[in-house]
Amino acid sequence: MRALHIDRFGGPEVVAVRELPSPEPGPGEVLVRVVASSLNPVDVKTRSGTIRGGGPALPMTLGWDLAGVVVSPGDSGLSVGERVIAMSAQLAAGRGTWADLVALPARTLAAAPTNTSLVEAATLPLPGLTAAQTLGWLGVSSGQRLLVTGAAGAVGGLAVQLARAWGITVDALVSRSAQLEIVADLGAQRAVTDVAELERRHYDAVLDTCGAPVGEAVRDGGRYATIASEHGDPPNLSHRGVTTTLHQVKENAADLADLVKLVETGGLRLRLDSSFPIAEVHKAFARFETRGLTGKIALVF
Ligand SMILES: NC(=O)c1ccc[n+]([C@@H]2O[C@H](COP(=O)([O-])OP(=O)(O)OC[C@H]3O[C@@H](n4cnc5c(N)ncnc54)[C@H](OP(=O)(O)O)[C@@H]3O)[C@@H](O)[C@H]2O)c1
Repeated sequence: MRALHIDRFGGPEVVAVRELPSPEPGPGEVLVRVVASSLNPVDVKTRSGTIRGGGPALPMTLGWDLAGVVVSPGDSGLSVGERVIAMSAQLAAGRGTWADLVALPARTLAAAPTNTSLVEAATLPLPGLTAAQTLGWLGVSSGQRLLVTGAAGAVGGLAVQLARAWGITVDALVSRSAQLEIVADLGAQRAVTDVAELERRHYDAVLDTCGAPVGEAVRDGGRYATIASEHGDPPNLSHRGVTTTLHQVKENAADLADLVKLVETGGLRLRLDSSFPIAEVHKAFARFETRGLTGKIALVF
């Protein structure tokens, strides 16, 4: 089978299509034929060797997201040919999804949305789980005020939509004015490009996806989560009673199934910028790294 593999760190050129032996699913695992995956910032950091905390040893297959069909269900209760999606914690598990065939624990898999293509569905797992689980940690509920930074990005855009679906008043910080209308359309009540425009000590919770300096926006006693580990730890706001965390996404089929339901009922819109065949993975990285995108880049197997 083909896999997108690296045996050294560097630019997009280090990623090569390699022929590797097909994986043998172990107990509790399901073998999936991958139809599509997507690019995430972690793939760039892993490829370039700049990931915080290091990664699995070289060589490795990259990729966290996956949409495909079940080839060998084991004792999972899934059927051969069933459309599924999953996130693989590639760095911790040493199991990349950018391959024709991937063996995954059944506990990571959810049925793919019935109303999207598998290419679109491949953009959901990592950013969707991150948005949902971080909002869960923040504990925001209907009627509360939330700020999402980097709101036009993958995690930010899904967090805005989820918050809106849960009845939370959500404001957005974006990087450029062209994104203001986009995040308003996703459900942000107020969107700004400048931190100075944010009301001070106003938000019950902050979800920071880009390391923006927004500690002053959260109210005393509020909660503050950042996911952008490359910008360091969250600010220490304990003197104001603010609880902070550097949140880390986890594989979780039940969370993924909840997200799929929201996609199917129209509460979550998946935004695809473009898709590339795996032979053009270098072009896919080049587009991804231009920044300013408001949709995901998919890789098609
Ligand atoms: N801890 C975890 O479990 C976890 C999970 C998923 C992702 N992450 C990390 O979270 C970050 C976001 O991921 P993502 O997939 O959402 O990335 P993304 O799609 O690239 O989105 C990031 C967004 O932040 C914007 N941005 C950057 N600097 C900004 C600033 N100062 N003010 C306002 N907006 C700003 C970017 O705008 P431009 O494109 O215009 O620059 C982009 O829209 C990445 O660092 C990723 O590695 C962590």
